[in-house]
Amino acid sequence: MDLEKYIAIVEDYPSKGISFKDITPLMADGEAFKHATDQIVEFAKEKEIDIVVGPEARGFIIGCPVAYALGVGFAPVRKPGKLPRETIKVDYSLEYGKNTLTLHKDAVKPGQRVLIIDDLLATGGTIEATKNLVEKLGGKVVGAAFLIELSYLNGRDKLKDIDIKTLLTYDD
Ligand code: PRP
Ligand code: MG
Repeated sequence: MDLEKYIAIVEDYPSKGISFKDITPLMADGEAFKHATDQIVEFAKEKEIDIVVGPEARGFIIGCPVAYALGVGFAPVRKPGKLPRETIKVDYSLEYGKNTLTLHKDAVKPGQRVLIIDDLLATGGTIEATKNLVEKLGGKVVGAAFLIELSYLNGRDKLKDIDIKTLLTYDD
């Protein structure tokens, strides 16, 4: 199945020079969404994952169906002020702007095997911050999966020791 035809490309959004990859057509198509989810589940199923961790907002969309299919839980990584209990935080920079991410202190237990999921790997800033949060809690990141990789932004360089799965790659 050619997933690329379910990604809408929007030039100069959210700011000039950014070529935005809109995943909502893929999400809207049951067959395409299931196919994408199934491929990530296939990648993860031999990894003995204890929990899936995904950054808001689009990491929830892909991460939750994968967690459900694997029969494991999901822990949300959120922007400051959104998680109600005690959190840890990490600062990060992304393709356009800067931010901070937080995770509940009890979201990952020491030694747990973690799969990180997001919709898109660009500079890798978001996922590096997510990995740092997991590792601060003693979790072991055993894989990371994305629908889309923008390879020209070299996000992989920030995840060198991690097994990465991406379903679609854009190289310019
Ligand atoms: C986008 C995308 C990834 C991140 C990738 O999220 O969903 O999470 O950027 O960029 P990076 O690899 O350079 O960090 P965004 O922060 O725009 O927010 P959203 O998911 O809440 O829409
Ligand atoms: Mg995001």
